[in-house]
Amino acid sequence: MTKATVLTGITTTGTPHLGNYVGAIRPAISASKDPNVSPFYFLADYHALIKCQEPERVRQSSLEIAATWLALGLDTSNAVFYRQSDVPEIMELTWLLTCVTSKGLMNRAHAYKAAVAENEQSGENDPDKGITMGLFSYPILMAADILMFNAHKVPVGKDQIQHIEMARDIAGRFNHIYGEHFVIPEAVTSENAATLAGMDGRKMSKSYNNTIPLFEPEKKLKKLINKIKTNSLEPGEPKDPDTCTLFGIYQAFATAPEVAEIRQRYAEGIGWGEMKSVLFEYINEHIAPSRERYEALLQAPHHIEEQLQEGAEKARAVSVPFMKELRKAVGISKITA
Ligand code: TRP
Repeated sequence: MTKATVLTGITTTGTPHLGNYVGAIRPAISASKDPNVSPFYFLADYHALIKCQEPERVRQSSLEIAATWLALGLDTSNAVFYRQSDVPEIMELTWLLTCVTSKGLMNRAHAYKAAVAENEQSGENDPDKGITMGLFSYPILMAADILMFNAHKVPVGKDQIQHIEMARDIAGRFNHIYGEHFVIPEAVTSENAATLAGMDGRKMSKSYNNTIPLFEPEKKLKKLINKIKTNSLEPGEPKDPDTCTLFGIYQAFATAPEVAEIRQRYAEGIGWGEMKSVLFEYINEHIAPSRERYEALLQAPHHIEEQLQEGAEKARAVSVPFMKELRKAVGISKITA
């Protein structure tokens, strides 16, 4: 049996937070230890340029994301862990795919449509104002990320499903014209992957500025947890765990019996101050060992770089010969063999 290739990318524009951890990083790391899958995980640094034109932030984010995944125990003997920009074949493939992608398909991309809608709403007479070709054609870059390694499964958030459908469409088009070169990938969204609420009760997200960084030092973590918004019920009054941000976060970390016990304490009217300290103690204890490794890794960037170079080498062992095949398939080759 050939192993299923599972591939996902992380855009390098921010600092990993608790929501990223439970929703994406934790499941990906546990999959990295499954001998039946061949995982490809990468830092999507070319994607970062679409939304971030601060070089220092892109660099820092790459460092933090790589350190986070390694600190959490990513199994790099099984998983190929690399930086997108270290695999130049991906950019080359992007062009081949661009030339088979209809513009109409890109017109329908949510991210592009949302940007146009925003311009229209603000009474702008150029609907494309401020929209770069990077944003417009980014689903093609994402298709190249996926098709380069013939990924079978692509774990993504729901907001990314459309991009996987576009990758399937583009792969099908290429295969139709040039022959069967690409596997048609499938999106994997896990229904029960935890989504956490952030400090203000909305979904924890960089764009809402309500995140709790995963490896925040202890004191700061405590401070942030204390700032999580709750309602104004007093200690002693019964509380609803299922609409509570604190409970939601606790639930994403604790075992079933521990969660049941806290649920009981909500019914008994646990005070918000008390619950915040329960939550802080739990998370802090849970992440302390990885946080220590994370801090150590940040002090040893050469070690991180080494791991990424090893990953790039493994990735290019696939991408270099495959790109050669694809170039030939489209008629880009030397005149003499
Ligand atoms: N665009 C994805 C996101 O914003 C990140 C990403 C880039 C990705 N390339 C990918 C995810 C390829 C899966 C496969 O979340």
